[in-house]
Amino acid sequence: MTGIGVLVSGSGSNLQAILDAQARGELGGEVRVVISNVAGVRALERARAANVPTRVLPHREFASREAFDDALVAALVEARVEIVALAGFMRIVTRRVLDAFPGRVVNIHPSLLPAFPGLHAQRQALDYGARVAGCTVHFVDEGCDSGPIIAQAAVPVLDGDTEDALAARILGEEHRVYPAALRALAEGRVTVAGRRVILRPA
Ligand code: GRF
Repeated sequence: MTGIGVLVSGSGSNLQAILDAQARGELGGEVRVVISNVAGVRALERARAANVPTRVLPHREFASREAFDDALVAALVEARVEIVALAGFMRIVTRRVLDAFPGRVVNIHPSLLPAFPGLHAQRQALDYGARVAGCTVHFVDEGCDSGPIIAQAAVPVLDGDTEDALAARILGEEHRVYPAALRALAEGRVTVAGRRVILRPA
């Protein structure tokens, strides 16, 4: 069973989708630890409810980004994690994490990358006047939402959409594509050639 570590900072609805997929036997791996940089968030409750070990590493308690990432790597290694899934984790990870898990750190972003990287992607899409929005699962590199794309899903932008309405529509797709992408990775069905990622069917 492939060990998965999920990094969170907030609500954890993607974590929930991942845990639900695991419960259905559709993750191809096992969530071995959930780590949050913020105490008291809903994601930690979700992990506890699923009997998954949790860790809180408050980033402000570390002298540098590197020191924080070293603690992150230590906690992930200790939990026997092989794949690191960022799910609403509001910190940029450094080389320290990427070197410890080469080609095995992934993220989900609420836009069709390379459009609208960074914060408030849904608002960026609305403000731009995009008629299609969506989400992207991608490998993490040292940039911001810039690594090779593993999976994407699109949703329409509707007239009169609010940021919340659009975010909720996108989240519905996030909850579908993230567990599926993690499963492909956990089952060794993902090949990367430069920027192109090939997913073999199960
Ligand atoms: C999602 O929209 C995800 O794409 C972004 O942060 C949000 C996390 O939501 N990276 P949740 O904590 O999984 O509910």
